[in-house]
This record gives sequence, C-alpha cells and structure tokens, in this order.
Amino acid sequence: MTTPYKHWTIDDLPWDKIDRSKVSPDLLKVIKAAALVEYGADSYADYLCKVFANDPEFQALARSWAVEEVQHGKALGLWAEKIDPSWSMDKAMAKFRAGYTPDHFTGDIDKSVRGSRSAEMVARCMVETGRTEGNLQAHRRRRIPSLQTFL
Ligand SMILES: [Fe+2]
Repeated sequence: MTTPYKHWTIDDLPWDKIDRSKVSPDLLKVIKAAALVEYGADSYADYLCKVFANDPEFQALARSWAVEEVQHGKALGLWAEKIDPSWSMDKAMAKFRAGYTPDHFTGDIDKSVRGSRSAEMVARCMVETGRTEGNLQAHRRRRIPSLQTFL
C-alpha cells in the first residue's frame, strides 16, 4: 500500500528549531535575496508561457513549477523575518518589483531574450545549478542546520 503524497506546507516546517545564533549576516542576505527571487517565479513562468506559447504541456509544467517556487520564496521570507524581525518580506518584495521588472516579463514577447528556447532552458539550468551549489555550501558549513528543510 502506498501512502498518498502530501505536499508540504509552510506550517509543516520546524519553525521552533530556528537558532539565530547560527546565522551569519552574509547568509541572511543570501536567504533574503533567494526569497525575493523565488517568490517572483510566477512572473518568470508568465514569461516562459509567452516563449512557449504553442506548448501547453510545457506551460502547465512551468505553472506548476512556479507554484512550488513561490512557496519556497514564502518559506524563505518567513524564515528571514524570524531571523531579522525588522525585515518585511512584503515590503522588500514591493521594493524589489518596483526596482526590477524586466521588459520581457511585462512586454508582448514571443521569443526568449536568450535567443532561443534551448538557450532559455540552458540559462535556467545554470541558475538552478548555482543555487543548488549555494544550498550545499550552506548546509556543509552547518550555519543553518535546518535550512535543507526550507529549500
Ligand atoms: Fe526553489
């Protein structure tokens, strides 16, 4: 008998195990930045759906991926707010979006700004590879023992 998959929720995370003493200021900055980028995944998915306008299967995957990424952003943002109560994810996100909204996210576009669909996916893979390496480095240094739960 298989147990049905239950998608994680932010409330499932072990918030009571956060130890501020193990978080460096540099790491906090990285997590705040990651929270903003991940929370903005819905805008990137909108862009991908324009680039892959004739591929509904890919669009569905992009939308599903974005839902997960936005949840990561919310979790990371909440974690950062618990470490730094003076920081507000909502305020930071509003400021981030006001200062960074690429034209290809809002404009009427039907091609990747990377030159091709393949180049778009290669760019995506490079971002994910870099982020994964950063996550591994943070875990290895054990600066945030439970961060793996959040990523
Ligand atoms: Fe993520």
